[in-house]
Amino acid sequence: MPLSAPIAIPPELAGSLSAARFVAVLTGAGVSAESGVATFRDAQTGLWARFDPRELATPSAFERNPRLVWDWYAWRRKLVAAAQPNPGHYALAAWERVARQFLLITQNVDGLHQRAGSVKLVELHGNIGRVKCSREGTLVSRWDEGGGEVPRCPNCGALLRPDVVWFEEMLPASALAQAEAAASHCDILLVVGTAAEVYPAAALPQRAHDAGALVVEINPHPTPLSASADYILRGPSGAVLPALVAGLRG
Ligand code: OAD
Repeated sequence: MPLSAPIAIPPELAGSLSAARFVAVLTGAGVSAESGVATFRDAQTGLWARFDPRELATPSAFERNPRLVWDWYAWRRKLVAAAQPNPGHYALAAWERVARQFLLITQNVDGLHQRAGSVKLVELHGNIGRVKCSREGTLVSRWDEGGGEVPRCPNCGALLRPDVVWFEEMLPASALAQAEAAASHCDILLVVGTAAEVYPAAALPQRAHDAGALVVEINPHPTPLSASADYILRGPSGAVLPALVAGLRG
């Protein structure tokens, strides 16, 4: 495995990062890629290869075949539980501890940011580790996986479902409001490991730019954001983020 070339951080960017009063970060599935968690745009592996996430992560799919959707999330929950945070997750948790003001806005549902120690965090799309009643929306702490049926709410008997945002569903209002406020007031927005294609999350970089923040894209590949970002660091977040944190002057 060739050593990845050292990441070149423009000196003026390093200076801005150290001087920033409020650092906001928007992450996507790419930040978990080096933990072995497949991104949304990667083909699903194994027996799920024939399913397209956009076909499974929808209210109508759950309505049509709750068992299939429940099993897909149970499979992903096991994968995520077996994964470990990578240096990119840990770098963001360390940055939070030294920044004057910091908010991590994630589209990811894998909980790896929290496991790496991030606390100042907003989950725009929920968390696969949480399960809720599909009727009441209340979280359920325990459920019986083994019964062969989709487990039901102990209170009202409705089917349980993962506490994640599906396509066509609204994002949690408070999470989105916090994310939009951060984008409007931060000095710097790092956009890490996201294809920047799914809204409203994908609108945050433009909101930050319009409010005068520096927008930095961290992604090995180009995205629709690349043309407008102030800086592009073309590399894996597991290498770029630790390099940025190492360069922060106290
Ligand atoms: P995608 O799978 O669409 O995009 C992953 C991005 O990560 C791509 O731009 C890759 O180039 C980049 N990437 C891959 N490896 C990387 C690495 N090592 N370091 C940094 N970047 C890397 O995932 P998202 O953009 O997060 O929504 O998808 C956004 C939303 O679309 C998801 O939250 C989900 C999905 O539908 C819902 O489930 C509602």
